Amino acid sequence: MKPINRFSLEKQDGPYQTWPVNSRLFFDGAPTGASLPGYQLLCQFEVPDGYILVTDYDCPFEEITNFAFLDGRLRLKSCRWLGWMYETYLLTRLEWVDEKTFIVIINEQVAYRFTIHRWGIPYLRPRLRLEWLGWVPPEGRPNIKIQEAQTPADFIRYYDLRWKVLRKPWDQPRGSEKDDLEEKSVHLIALDRGLLIGVGRVHFNSPAEAQIRFMAILEEYRRKGVGSTILRELERKALERGAKTLVLNSREEVIPFYEKHGYKIIGDAPMLFGKIGHKNMAKDVK
Ligand SMILES: CC(C)(COP(=O)(O)OP(=O)(O)OC[C@H]1O[C@@H](n2cnc3c(N)ncnc32)[C@H](O)[C@@H]1OP(=O)(O)O)[C@@H](O)C(=O)NCCC(=O)NCCS
Repeated sequence: MKPINRFSLEKQDGPYQTWPVNSRLFFDGAPTGASLPGYQLLCQFEVPDGYILVTDYDCPFEEITNFAFLDGRLRLKSCRWLGWMYETYLLTRLEWVDEKTFIVIINEQVAYRFTIHRWGIPYLRPRLRLEWLGWVPPEGRPNIKIQEAQTPADFIRYYDLRWKVLRKPWDQPRGSEKDDLEEKSVHLIALDRGLLIGVGRVHFNSPAEAQIRFMAILEEYRRKGVGSTILRELERKALERGAKTLVLNSREEVIPFYEKHGYKIIGDAPMLFGKIGHKNMAKDVK
């Protein structure tokens, strides 16, 4: 799936209440013959069998968000909407899981999964399958799955989360979330019902010394054991590969997290962006 910028919606004129429910859809400026619910195109993607477009009514109240699938010949094949009378259903974010599956978060708190089917039967089997996944985060401890990032889609959202948690709050540009050891590292992702909620990385400084870096958990999923689960799995991977000592540079505010896992402060580490104090910590595992 590739984000694109080739579709546009017709502009409506006059008082808002007189606007039609659908707007005509254009591709590279030319009419497609299709029209979509809404007045605002929020995002558009090219997928192997066609296109996914997300629209809404550009209304802060009673908002409905629409998800449309068009085939490669620009024919509207499926349109699903999320909304309810007098309720607001604002798109918070959309995350691709693979080339035919994406998860959306609505109002920062509810998750839905969409799957693009290769074929459909009108009304019985829509090309765009919609499933309610539940609250984000769920009540209590999430049932998380830890795995290595492997596919291109995994790495897109892996680096995106790293950047959002560890770099964006300090106005650092995209790209600053990577270093030159990425290809030699083990990258772990934590998933809640398919949604990426945390990441972490380990690399080797020497055959005996492994370093944990880039631990990042989505804010709403913190203090639920996700970071601990990732850290333990990174440690296990490092041990498997022969590590005798684990080191890391901890932000001062999260030192108790690493202490809880047996790490001890062994010195000062460089300040990040001139503002974030760090301590060098280590733990022997031999
Ligand atoms: C640090 C971080 C990875 C911890 O992940 P987490 O999923 O929240 O951690 P856990 O729920 O597994 O915490 C386990 C224990 O560590 C301790 N702990 C975790 N975060 C802490 C914090 N911010 N302050 C003090 N203690 C903390 C607590 O004892 C906690 O147990 P408790 O919740 O039962 O009290 C996460 O807070 C994060 O991503 N922070 C922002 C980015 C960051 O600072 N990354 C680290 C860069 S070095």
